[in-house]
Amino acid sequence: MEFQTLIRTRRTIRKFEQNPVSKEQLHRYIDAARLAPSAANLQPLKYVSVSSPEVCEKLFFLTRWAGYLEDYTPKDGERPTAYIAVCADLNIRKNGYEFDAGAAATHIILSALSDGIGACWMGAIDYEKIPKLLGLDENLKLLYVIALGYPKESPSEVEMEDENVKYFIGEDGTLRVPKRSLDEVIIKSL
Ligand SMILES: Cc1cc2nc3c(=O)[nH]c(=O)nc-3n(C[C@H](O)[C@H](O)[C@H](O)COP(=O)(O)O)c2cc1C
Repeated sequence: MEFQTLIRTRRTIRKFEQNPVSKEQLHRYIDAARLAPSAANLQPLKYVSVSSPEVCEKLFFLTRWAGYLEDYTPKDGERPTAYIAVCADLNIRKNGYEFDAGAAATHIILSALSDGIGACWMGAIDYEKIPKLLGLDENLKLLYVIALGYPKESPSEVEMEDENVKYFIGEDGTLRVPKRSLDEVIIKSL
């Protein structure tokens, strides 16, 4: 897909086909994250790739989905088939890694999307149990996970009305995601 189209049509995916995503694919997306911009070029981020169905299953129950909707948690048969957990290595940088982490997430998500793989960036996760599940050392602080898999839904963007930021299910049953207009977000052009 052409890059501008990819960026414009990317939406968070929360329902997935059950085809596997390979370790090699995940490592390619982590490689894209590795090359992202990094403040002072310290590169404090480290990653765990998860493609084993057993670990995916356990991880799923430590994540929370689509807080604005009554019941949009993926059901059996539509759950992610892979994850990437993103951590800060506190031995490299004790704080101030958040901007790096945002850039890394974008690289992972867009790199996966260029392979046709959808993603959900997840911060509503169990920050106590996931590090134990993944066997993270003390110096690794879990920042977020990205759930991945082939899309089984087609959400789309709609223009935001009346400051309503909440995504919703449209008349055709697909997810609609309100976005502020370009005019609203450009403060001025000098
Ligand atoms: C830092 C961050 C944390 C997020 N955490 C979650 C989450 O825990 N669960 C979830 O379902 N979506 C999560 N999302 C996805 C957002 O809900 C989604 O990006 C937003 O509704 C806009 O939709 P879009 O990505 O399709 O443009 C998160 C997004 C970001 C950037």
